[in-house]
Amino acid sequence: MEASCTVLSIRQVESIMLYDTIGKTYSQTRQSDPRIAAKLLEILEPFQASTIVDIGAGTGSYALYLAEHGYQVLAVEPSMVMRRQAIAHPAVHWIDAKAEELLLPSHSADVAIIILALHHFHDYSQALQEIHRVTGGGQVVIFTYDPDLISSFWLTRYFPSFITDVQSTFLPIATLTAEIETIMDTAVNVVPFPLPNDLSDSFAAVGWSRPELYLDHNIRNGISSFAKLNDDEVAPGLSNLRKDLEIGLWDQKYGYLRQQTHHDVGYRFVFTTA
Ligand SMILES: C[S@@+](CC[C@H](N)C(=O)[O-])C[C@H]1O[C@@H](n2cnc3c(N)ncnc32)[C@H](O)[C@@H]1O
Repeated sequence: MEASCTVLSIRQVESIMLYDTIGKTYSQTRQSDPRIAAKLLEILEPFQASTIVDIGAGTGSYALYLAEHGYQVLAVEPSMVMRRQAIAHPAVHWIDAKAEELLLPSHSADVAIIILALHHFHDYSQALQEIHRVTGGGQVVIFTYDPDLISSFWLTRYFPSFITDVQSTFLPIATLTAEIETIMDTAVNVVPFPLPNDLSDSFAAVGWSRPELYLDHNIRNGISSFAKLNDDEVAPGLSNLRKDLEIGLWDQKYGYLRQQTHHDVGYRFVFTTA
């Protein structure tokens, strides 16, 4: 098979191995969120697509949602541990491949989506070139995070390494936009996505108004930024958060967040113009 002949970079191997390790219980805490999925459908509508390639599809929760809404989905995912948790659907076809080498024919999809996976790709440009080839023109919808906003998130007061981790893995939005514009030769839209306070996809900012969630081992297990932290930082960070919640200090500083239904933590939809 072509993929087995490919020389993988250390970062790429690490990224795939990361999900073979931390992905074992991913589907328990990382279900698709209906508000994110609905926004995705709204953005996809003008493309009038029939086949969508979902790159870094994980356990396929968003692929399944799209299939249930009439799309044919090519779900590309390199981690077997993740693919094994997928719920089968006749309109979702799984491919063991990487973003940088999709192993799909040219013009085999109308649009590509990348949901919270771009920061794991070892070569963004190569992935975008592949999308350009496979979609025959380069239509893409990306859900990602603006790394310029990470230091304003209260969670970093307890786990400061999140700042360096996020800033070294997530592409700045302006860089990403310029890269897409150059490779796809099309205009790009950036739309902020304020998170609801009852998010059901438990990614890193899930507890923006529910700090107690981070004390839950299962929630932390599904968040790659926690998996990359040293135990030396996790233990004191958790202990300080637990103590601040007990004595009311967290609520004194950030309790106003508990009153908000939505909050812009920094998540963005970045997509080409239809
Ligand atoms: C945070 S998960 C997101 C999964 C899914 N999109 C979702 O939102 O539930 C990131 C996924 O990207 C995958 N991934 C890592 N490196 C990749 C690469 N080079 N190409 C494609 N997918 C990759 C991981 O295996 C993991 O399943």
